[in-house]
Amino acid sequence: MADHTEVDSVSGTATTGHAWDGIKELNTPLPRWWVITFYITIVWAIGYWIVYPAWPTISSNTAGLFGYSSRADVAVELANLEKIRGAKMAALATASLADIEKDPAMLGLARAKGKTVFGDNCAACHGTGAAGAKGFPNLNDDDWLWGGSLEQIQQTLLYGIRSGHPKTREGQMLAFGKDGVLKPAEIVTVANYVRELAGLSTRPGYDAKAGAKIFAENCAACHGDNAKGNPELGAPNLTDKIWLYGSDEATLIETITNGRAGVMPAWEGRLDPTTIKAMAVYVHSLGGGK
Ligand code: HEC
Ligand code: HEC
Repeated sequence: MADHTEVDSVSGTATTGHAWDGIKELNTPLPRWWVITFYITIVWAIGYWIVYPAWPTISSNTAGLFGYSSRADVAVELANLEKIRGAKMAALATASLADIEKDPAMLGLARAKGKTVFGDNCAACHGTGAAGAKGFPNLNDDDWLWGGSLEQIQQTLLYGIRSGHPKTREGQMLAFGKDGVLKPAEIVTVANYVRELAGLSTRPGYDAKAGAKIFAENCAACHGDNAKGNPELGAPNLTDKIWLYGSDEATLIETITNGRAGVMPAWEGRLDPTTIKAMAVYVHSLGGGK
C-alpha cells in the first residue's frame, strides 16, 4: 500500500493518510499533560493491586499488602453494635416492666424494638398503625378488652386469646341464636337494648323492659350489670362508643346470634421473652395504657 501521509499545508501537521470524500485526517499528537496523566493512572492501578485485594485466585483473591477487607470491617462494626445492644438488651431482659417504663433509655430501646417487631408480626391483623379493623382491636385507644396494664398486655401477648395455648385468655360469648338460647325476636329486643345502653337510636316499638330483663338474665354475667364489660373474661364494655364488630342493629344481631370468638395467637415460644416484654411496653405506650 502506498504511503498517503503528507504534511498539511495550512496547519503544518502531518496527516494520518486517512481521507474521506477529500477530507483528510490530521495526525495531531495527544496533549502532553493527557499522556502523563494516563501513565500516572497506570502506575496508580498497579500500586492499588499491590496494596488492596484485587486479583481473583483459584479459591479466593489476592489479599493486598494491608489485608484490608470491607467484609471484616462490617463484621467489626456489627460486633461493636452487638456489644452495645447486647448490654442494653440484657438490661431489658432482667428489668421489670415498670422499670423499663421509668428508664428513658430502656423505654426508647423497647419502643424501637417493639415498632419493628409489630410491623413484622402484628400489623397484618392490627393494621400498620395498630388502629385495628373489624374484629381486630385498635391498640391505640384507651379501651381494652383484656386490660391495659403492662402485666395484662404482657399476658395477652404471651398466651394469646382463645389461642389453644394452655394458659390462653379464654372467655366465650355464647351463640345465643345458633344454640337456641334466645329466640330471634328476643335477640332483636336485646340488640336494641344494647343500642339504648350505648346511647344509640332504637327500633320503633321496641320493648325496653323486656330488653333489660333479657340482658340481666343472659348477658350481665359477663358484660356486667351496667354493661361496662369485664376484662377478666374479655367481655367488652357495651356502653362506650368503641366497637370491635359494630353497633348497627344487623351487626349486633349477628354478634348475639352466632357469637364471635376472635382469636389472637400466643407469642410465647415464637418471640423471645425479652422481645415480648418490649412489645408489651410498646403497646402500652401506644394506647395510653392503664
Ligand atoms: C391473627 C391475627 C392477629 C395477630 C397476628 C395479632 N393479633 Fe392481637 N388480637 C387479635 C384479635 C382477633 C384480638 C381480639 C381478640 C378478642 O376478641 O378478644 C387481639 C387482641 C390483642 C390485644 C388485646 C387488646 C385488648 O383490648 O385487650 C393486644 C394487646 C394485642 N392483640 C396485641 C398484639 C400484638 C402486640 C401482636 C403481635 C406480636 C398481635 N396482637 C398479633 C388478632 C391478632
Ligand atoms: C360468657 C360470657 C358472655 C356472655 C354471657 C355474653 N357475652 Fe357478649 N361478649 C363476650 C365476649 C368475650 C365478647 C368479645 C367477643 C370476641 O372478642 O370475639 C363479647 C362481645 C359482645 C358484643 C360485641 C361488642 C363489640 O364491640 O362489637 C356484643 C354486642 C355483645 N357481646 C352482646 C352480648 C349480649 C347482648 C349478650 C346477652 C344476650 C352477651 N353479649 C352475653 C362475652 C359474653
